[in-house]
Amino acid sequence: METEVKDVFSMPRIGDEAPHFFARTTQGDINFPKDYKGKWVILFSHPADFTPVCTTEFMTFASMQEEFKKMNVELIGLSIDSIYAHIAWLRTIKEKIKWKDMENVEVNFPVIEDIKMEVANKFGMISPKESTTQAVRAVFFIDPEAKIRTIMYYPQSLGRNFAEIKRVIQGLQKADKEAVATPANWQPGDDVIVPAPGSCGLAKERIENKDAESYCLDWFLCFKKESK
Ligand code: BEZ
Repeated sequence: METEVKDVFSMPRIGDEAPHFFARTTQGDINFPKDYKGKWVILFSHPADFTPVCTTEFMTFASMQEEFKKMNVELIGLSIDSIYAHIAWLRTIKEKIKWKDMENVEVNFPVIEDIKMEVANKFGMISPKESTTQAVRAVFFIDPEAKIRTIMYYPQSLGRNFAEIKRVIQGLQKADKEAVATPANWQPGDDVIVPAPGSCGLAKERIENKDAESYCLDWFLCFKKESK
């Protein structure tokens, strides 16, 4: 019994290959990850359709969809609701809800029907002590090789920070492209961290190196300058 519970509620981790799934969505069927080869994916769950926090999150995600597309990122939503509930809710959002500067918002990214919780369980989106019938607010950042790179896990009561969701993608793409790391509170344009040296010789070389593009606070903490 214990093993069963563990299997149902276990969660893939950073570095794991994202679980494969077939699903019916508001934009047609999805075969994941095959259909998303070469793209970054933000796969996120929300507790339920027609709920207030989720509505504000969907409007925000939808209004940022083009921005994400330009970054080669596709969005996929999920809740333990039927396709008909999803359709009705998305129509209501478009027709009736005006919030902040957003109105007439069309949600064009796929939202997975997951009545049987098959996808939610594969990704560990159910936290039983929060709810056994609704997903938490999980966000999986999946790279173009279908590897999980970051996971966010928020409770039902807390709306997600979309500036941070965007920053995670920016940071991961920067790290991949330039083999660097990003310091605390990094924003695009800020200086980045170069990996720590792996030998005494390299540590010495780094401290003695006086090039114009980088600077070190100590042998293990060196930055590459960015032009803002
Ligand atoms: C909401 O989206 O507002 C919500 C959903 C489930 C539990 C609490 C809040």
